[in-house]
Amino acid sequence: ALDISKLRAQTGMITLDPGYVNTGSCESNITFIDGEKGILRYRGYPIEDVCDKTDFIETAYLVIYGRLPDQNEYDKFRDDIAEHSLPHKGLAKMFEAFPKDAHPMALLASVLPSMYAYYPYDENDPEQVDKAILRLLGKVPVLASWVYRKLRGWPLNYSNPDLSYAANFLNLTFSTPSNRFKLDPDIVKALDLLLILHADHEQNCSAASVRMVGSSQVNLYAAIAAGMCSLWGPLHGGANQKVLEMLDMIQRDGGDIDKYLELAKDKESGFRLMGFGHRVYKNFDPRAHIIKKHADRVLSKLGINDPLLNLAKKLEEAALNDPYFAERKLYPNVDFYSGIIYKAMGIPTEMFTVMFAIGRLPGWIAQWREMQRDPSLRIGRPRQVYQGETERELSSRVKNH
Ligand code: ACO
Repeated sequence: ALDISKLRAQTGMITLDPGYVNTGSCESNITFIDGEKGILRYRGYPIEDVCDKTDFIETAYLVIYGRLPDQNEYDKFRDDIAEHSLPHKGLAKMFEAFPKDAHPMALLASVLPSMYAYYPYDENDPEQVDKAILRLLGKVPVLASWVYRKLRGWPLNYSNPDLSYAANFLNLTFSTPSNRFKLDPDIVKALDLLLILHADHEQNCSAASVRMVGSSQVNLYAAIAAGMCSLWGPLHGGANQKVLEMLDMIQRDGGDIDKYLELAKDKESGFRLMGFGHRVYKNFDPRAHIIKKHADRVLSKLGINDPLLNLAKKLEEAALNDPYFAERKLYPNVDFYSGIIYKAMGIPTEMFTVMFAIGRLPGWIAQWREMQRDPSLRIGRPRQVYQGETERELSSRVKNH
C-alpha cells in the first residue's frame, strides 16, 4: 500500500490550502452539513426536529454523548450540571481585576483556562473528564451572567437548580433583590431555541481551534478557551454583535440600504455585509430560516416593534435580488437575525458573542471528546511553503566581532 507519510518525507509534497477550503482535518460523527441543500443534522437528527422536540440540556447530551438521553439520564445530567454550577470565588476575584467597561468576551475568555487552576483533573480518568464537562456546562452561564452584572455594577447572582438551563441564565443575569424580575416563558423558549441552534456546527473556526489546541493534549478548559477566543472574531461568532451595530448604523444614516449594498460590493471600502455569507452554506443557512421565523414571533408576542427587524428584512431582500450576492451565493447566516432576538431579551450588544459561546459549549466539548478518543489522534501541525530568503551570510550591524 502507498505510505503517504513516507512519500511526503521523500518528495516534500505539501498541499497548500489557505483557509482549509478543501482540506478535511478529521473524521467526525457529530454534525452533518450539506451546504448546497441547506441541511444541518446533529447526530443524524435534522436541526428542525431537534429544535421542535428537545431542550438545550437534551441537545447538549445528544451532541456530546452521541444519543438522546432517557429520562433518568436526562434528570441526572441536568442535576449534575446544576450541582457543578457554582464557580470558585477565586474566579469571581479575577473579574474584579478587569476594567468595568472591558469587552465581555475578554473577561469570559480569560477566565476559562484559569478554571484548571481551581479544578485540575486527571485526563486518564473518564469520571474526572466527565466532571470537567459538567463544570464547564454548569459554570460558563454563571460566569457569563457575572460579566453582565459587572457591566451593570450589580452584585453577583447564583444558580437556581429548579430552573431550566435557559431560565436559569436569564434569572442569573437579570434578577436583583429589588427588581422583582419575572421570567417570561416566551423569552425562555426563545433563548432555549437559540442555544440549541448554536450547539454545534462541525469544523468551523472555533471547533477547529479546540481540536488544534486540544491535539497537544492540553486540558479541556484550555482547549475550550481557544475555541472561545476564535469565536470572538467578527468573521465568526463576533459577527452577531457586528450585525446589530451595522443595522443600527444604517438606520441612523437614514436607512439607505442601496448605499450600504454598494459599499459591501466595493472591495476597497473595507465594509462587508455582516451576517451574510458562509464557507459551507451556498443556498441558505437553515439556522437563519428558523431564527427569522422566531424573531417575528418573539417580537410580536413581546409587543416590540423593532425597526431594525424591518430594516434587516429589507436588507436581506435587496441583497438576495442583487447579482453580486446571488453570483457569490451569499445568504443570511445564523448571526443575521439572532441579535435582534437577543436585543428584545434585554441582552446588550457587547454580550451577543458570549451568548453564542454558551450555546456552542456542547459542540466544542463534543469535538474535543471525539478527538481525544480517536486512536489515530496526532498533534495538529500544518506544514508551510517557505517563501523567505535563501541562506545568506550574517554580518552584524550592531556587534563587531
Ligand atoms: N459582504 C460582501 N461580500 C462578501 C461577503 C459579505 N458578507 N462575504 C463574502 N463576500 C464576497 C467576498 O468578497 C468574495 O468576493 P470575490 O469572489 O469577488 O473575491 C466572495 O464573496 C467569497 O468570499 P470569501 O471571503 O472568500 O468567503 P469565505 O468562505 O472565505 O468567508 C465568511 C466566509 C467569513 C463568512 C464571509 O462570507 C464573511 O466575511 N461574512 C461576513 C461575516 C459573517 O457574517 N460571519 C459569520 C459567519 S457564520 C458563523 O461564523 C457563525
